[in-house]
Amino acid sequence: MSDDVLVVHGGVPLHGEIRVRGAKNLVSKAMVAALLGEAESRLYDVPAIRDVEVVRGLLELHGVRVTEGEDGELIFDPANVESANVDEINVHAGSSRIPILFCGPLLHRLGHAFIPNLGGCRIGNRPIDFHLAALREFGAVVEKKPEGLYLTAPNGLHGTKFTLPYPSVGATEQVLLTAVLAKGVTELRNAAVEPEIIDLICVLQKMGAVISVHTDRVIRIVGVPRLSGYQHRPLPDRLEVASWACAALATHGDVYIRNARQVDMMTFLNVFRTVGGAFEVDDSPEGGIRFWHPGGELSAVALETDVHPGFMTDWQQPLVVALTQARGLSIIHETVYEQRLGFTEALVKMGATIQLYRECLGSTPCRFGQRNFLHSAVISGPSKLHGAELEIPDLRGGFSHIIAALAAEGTSTLHGVDLINRGYEDFEAKLQALGARFERA
Ligand code: EPZ
Repeated sequence: MSDDVLVVHGGVPLHGEIRVRGAKNLVSKAMVAALLGEAESRLYDVPAIRDVEVVRGLLELHGVRVTEGEDGELIFDPANVESANVDEINVHAGSSRIPILFCGPLLHRLGHAFIPNLGGCRIGNRPIDFHLAALREFGAVVEKKPEGLYLTAPNGLHGTKFTLPYPSVGATEQVLLTAVLAKGVTELRNAAVEPEIIDLICVLQKMGAVISVHTDRVIRIVGVPRLSGYQHRPLPDRLEVASWACAALATHGDVYIRNARQVDMMTFLNVFRTVGGAFEVDDSPEGGIRFWHPGGELSAVALETDVHPGFMTDWQQPLVVALTQARGLSIIHETVYEQRLGFTEALVKMGATIQLYRECLGSTPCRFGQRNFLHSAVISGPSKLHGAELEIPDLRGGFSHIIAALAAEGTSTLHGVDLINRGYEDFEAKLQALGARFERA
């Protein structure tokens, strides 16, 4: 077991106020976009998380000067972009999935790219076949070696028509970051349209890109010869907001999340209300959303995770902890990742009643049906949770273990909690602000 250990004394409702910063899943991509510009870019409200450190390290290796302003501002100066040493890049191997998005920008700026082997949460196979197929369509030549990917573009990158087999967030971003400076027009079909992607499009538009989002998941990009810098305040982290909201619900608490934004979270808010949680949107300039348990019993729900505007896969794990406290049978059909229910094993160890199924327990059969993936869950509640010794498995599953430990009676020992720093800024300070009882072992 890992030796970064948090000991949590459960049974204390979370009460108080926290603030979330810019979304991890936009900020890291906007940082990569800065590489495409010929002028300085400024990104505000950047969270101090591990993924940001990794991308910063890779940018700096490629000659981008990164400096810090006030209060989470990062300034990127791409005037001296240069090739980086493969061994130095490889220090970042296995640390994140974002490096794959450097392909297009590096090909544009340098004519070649080296991408280390990827990391990220182990929540399924997570192939990069869509990324590579799209890059080849643009004219990239990709060579796979044990240490990573080598890419060149002997004839430059040219706009193309490409249809994604599935609306992948990362592959859509790959196409955007490549198409903006490619020669001619690119038409992407079956694109992902998550709010983080629309925000990335806003960043690129500020830089001088011409991108239009059409109905039915079609995005058209007219390549331009050069891009400038940007100044951007990212959309708030709606994944983190949902995590704390579920923590409030599971612990019978009351948490005000400053900077949380309703428009990006409507699907989550509907489910939160259906389960029996209460929320109030504060539209004042420095507003947010208050989430609380209004008393009484929570209700079971049946839902499927899906691409936007569906219920996000990253909202699923914290919600499942709250559902262990709901009366009746809840059903979750995970359709985005094939192995994203493994974290429930720990909840069962803590007293929850959860059964996993290979079948698609939802209205629409998904890509994982009949393929031996335990991707549906039935949760029977309410269950009294008790403390346990657990190992943090991945980012969202890990945070759900923390929620379970907070909701449980007794003490839990959580190993490997540093992994949470990959995506949750200052989570221990936030727990403290909300009155949780815990200590580092
Ligand atoms: C992004 O991952 C997020 N990560 C994930 O958040 C999020 O869960 C996911 O989008 C869905 O919203 C970042 O933005 C850094 P995908 P991404 O490509 O882009 C399959 C978190 O905890 N696929 O939309 O990697 C893939 O296997 C993380 O913050 C292929 O088959 O997700 C999956 O089943 C976890 N081939 C599905 O598509 C490919 O080439 C969706 O993946 C690419 C993807």
